[in-house]
Amino acid sequence: MFVIKIGLLGLGTVGRGVYNIINNEKGYYFQTEDNAPQIVKILVTDTKKDRGSELDYSLLTTDPDDILLDNSIDIVVAVMGGSEPELKYVLRALNNKKHVVTANKQIISDHMALLLQTAKENNVSLMFEASVGGGIPIIDTMQQLLKINRINRVTGILNGTTNFILSQMSQHRTSFAEALKTAQEMGFAEADPTADVMGFDVSRKLSILSSLAYNQIIQDDDIYKRGIVSIDAVDIEMTRQNGYVLKYVAQSFLKGDKYYTLVAPALIKESTELAVVNNEYNVIILNGNIIGEIKISGKGAGQNPTANAVVGDIIYILEQKAPIEADFSNPISNGGIDGFHGKYYFRFQIDNSQQFSAAFDCVDKYVEKKDVIYQRGNLFFFTEDIPSSTALKIEKEINKICENIFFARVIE
Ligand code: NAP
Ligand code: HSE
Repeated sequence: MFVIKIGLLGLGTVGRGVYNIINNEKGYYFQTEDNAPQIVKILVTDTKKDRGSELDYSLLTTDPDDILLDNSIDIVVAVMGGSEPELKYVLRALNNKKHVVTANKQIISDHMALLLQTAKENNVSLMFEASVGGGIPIIDTMQQLLKINRINRVTGILNGTTNFILSQMSQHRTSFAEALKTAQEMGFAEADPTADVMGFDVSRKLSILSSLAYNQIIQDDDIYKRGIVSIDAVDIEMTRQNGYVLKYVAQSFLKGDKYYTLVAPALIKESTELAVVNNEYNVIILNGNIIGEIKISGKGAGQNPTANAVVGDIIYILEQKAPIEADFSNPISNGGIDGFHGKYYFRFQIDNSQQFSAAFDCVDKYVEKKDVIYQRGNLFFFTEDIPSSTALKIEKEINKICENIFFARVIE
């Protein structure tokens, strides 16, 4: 009996989840299909590491060629993380006419056109459902929508780790450091969580979604991003007192021949659609010219949801469905940060009277109407509607005088 063979690159949180669905927990497909595919080789850095009893250790290797050059392997699942050597391995797999399924948003965001083209030239599929939104079937949904619609807006909470941190800080008064540690223990965070908390993970995901949506490669580098590391418990409390919750929001939209992108913390009105998405859950809202608004939510990080997306892609290939098609020829360009404007929340920690006056004067210089609160060593401003570039000017000036500041746009 002919059986499709799979090589796994990586056996961490996601790789182990894939292994379990195929071998141990037996997802429905694998219980019912007589000739279900088999994992025949797994690349790791250390074959001696204890990985529990329910693993066939004879499958482990530290030599990528055992997978990439094995002609009997049909599908390579790339779940290692980082750029190199994974990019090199994926290109070699495609050029050796193996289908590739990956969860790696970094290589997809940085090299989507090259990878899709290489897959096409070799008549194989490149699938990356798990690269955005964990278990949420967003890439497939978008492919379907794009057959009928022009998508002109993408909004979302796209990172499980940071949404978990903000939810824990807000609902349980957990410290930032403690919440991050738990997110790491639960397998949500990247190997280097800097990517999560500084925004690279979100902007890579926004880059993938926006490139597909607007038919042009929008590089991660083109996306303005600000992390969540300067959020303090006082920000959580002050925003709550004013009827908001703090969320880490990714937004892009297309207007005329310009696209606009932003990844930044934002104050969201309580009980609204972004505000109620908590912990490792993600949400993605798309706007299509025919369908209108569509919202899709689910677990955006963690072993089982992500492995579900990877195995879903494997089954998609087994069912011989059409490969991902993308057109990046739309002549659009970056419209810059001022596509976004709104009321802003600023908080400056004030240690002396000079800082107080300087911070006050600076905001006064740029903003006519604002509400001001001084509480326990912090100066808070809720401004009128201002362009995002004005908020950045205020930040730049105040950074020279105050060390501890935080600001975020209010999304009504
Ligand atoms: P992880 O737990 O750090 O696992 C990485 C695996 O890759 C480990 O098994 C490691 O080997 C192996 N590996 C790393 N570098 C290697 C190298 N140079 N040579 C051989 N093996 C190597 O990572 P993960 O959380 O599973 O994430 C994997 C990918 O999925 C990343 O691209 C991540 O962004 C993406 N992703 C993760 C999630 C999530 O919730 N965790 C969700 C969506 C997407 P050892 O076991 O020997 O250390
Ligand atoms: N570190 C990522 C997150 C994993 O927390 O969302 C899922 O892509």
